[in-house]
Amino acid sequence: MTKPRVLSTRPLFPAARKILDEHFDVEYWMKPERISRAELLERVAGKDALICLLTEKVDEELLANALKLRIVATVSVGYDNIDVAACTHRKVVATHTPGVLDDTTADFAWTLLMAVARRLLEGDAWMRSGTWPGWDLDQLVGGDVWGKTLGIVGFGRIGRGVARRAQGFQMRVLYNDAVRAPTEIEDQLHAEFADRDRIFRESDFISLHVPLLPDTRHLISKKNLERMKRTAFLINTSRGPVVDEAALADALENKTIAGAALDVYEHEPKVHPALVARKDVILAPHIASASVDTRTKMAVMAANNVVAFFEGRCPPNAFNAAALGLE
Ligand SMILES: NC(=O)c1ccc[n+]([C@@H]2O[C@H](COP(=O)([O-])OP(=O)(O)OC[C@H]3O[C@@H](n4cnc5c(N)ncnc54)[C@H](O)[C@@H]3O)[C@@H](O)[C@H]2O)c1
Repeated sequence: MTKPRVLSTRPLFPAARKILDEHFDVEYWMKPERISRAELLERVAGKDALICLLTEKVDEELLANALKLRIVATVSVGYDNIDVAACTHRKVVATHTPGVLDDTTADFAWTLLMAVARRLLEGDAWMRSGTWPGWDLDQLVGGDVWGKTLGIVGFGRIGRGVARRAQGFQMRVLYNDAVRAPTEIEDQLHAEFADRDRIFRESDFISLHVPLLPDTRHLISKKNLERMKRTAFLINTSRGPVVDEAALADALENKTIAGAALDVYEHEPKVHPALVARKDVILAPHIASASVDTRTKMAVMAANNVVAFFEGRCPPNAFNAAALGLE
């Protein structure tokens, strides 16, 4: 019997390759540079499954070019790279990797939060420059973290992980979400539901954990930045377009807020040039989930979803399963 044919746009990790190679005839994109759109369209034609990253767009054009395709597995929890309606329309199952990256991503949101508040990168640059004159009372004074108010926008798996960590810093936690969390979760995490306006006005740190959707695009706008405290910091480990980067650059320039730490960008891999020059911004290259263990788990999860599908089971992490009547 011929095996299903799979295209993987990355070599993945050995643990995921082992699973895939046992079941499928897999073509891996092995070159160090990202697969181009043209190569992707050419190679996905005739494949039964696609394993892709968040940098690959799965849209009507791709689907129309790959009429045998039955399943798309993105190695990411966010799936704004996938046109879900187009997949569902063409009866293509689409899966993602929820849950396995929550703590690693929450850890990194905290890494950014602490680093920007305490001006770590400015200090590091100073030390390396060889010009640090020694201790002084008012050098690199930053914002306190402990005891402050943390506003979490998007109180899902990762947002809650960020809240859990705040307890160790005796912080007050406010959160906003399209859906209010159950009381026992609020109690457990000492988190209080607040409308967006209150989040912006009262928080010393705002950490974003919403998916990229039409109503979260530019959620951090000029208007909302102006509601924030002048001493507040913005942390974004969600998706770049949730923040209006030009408005953020203006807000920093005008000292409307104190600083920002970003892992994701509006037009990746580009960054707004006005942000690059600023000392009150930390710029990370989309690495919030980048631990060896977590990235391996994500790749394995994607592989297992594809295996489940071809074994006749509903892939455990299919986000259009209900629409396809698979559940
Ligand atoms: N930087 C990274 O490497 C990285 C890593 C992991 C996840 N992410 C991003 O983080 C996002 C969140 O991941 P998650 O696993 O916590 O997802 P999740 O689905 O568990 O949580 C998202 C939460 O946002 C809420 N939400 C949706 N629309 C909203 C709105 N308009 N206003 C307020 N809340 C709204 C949802 O109700 C949900 O509770 C992902 O979609 C992804 O884009 C980024």
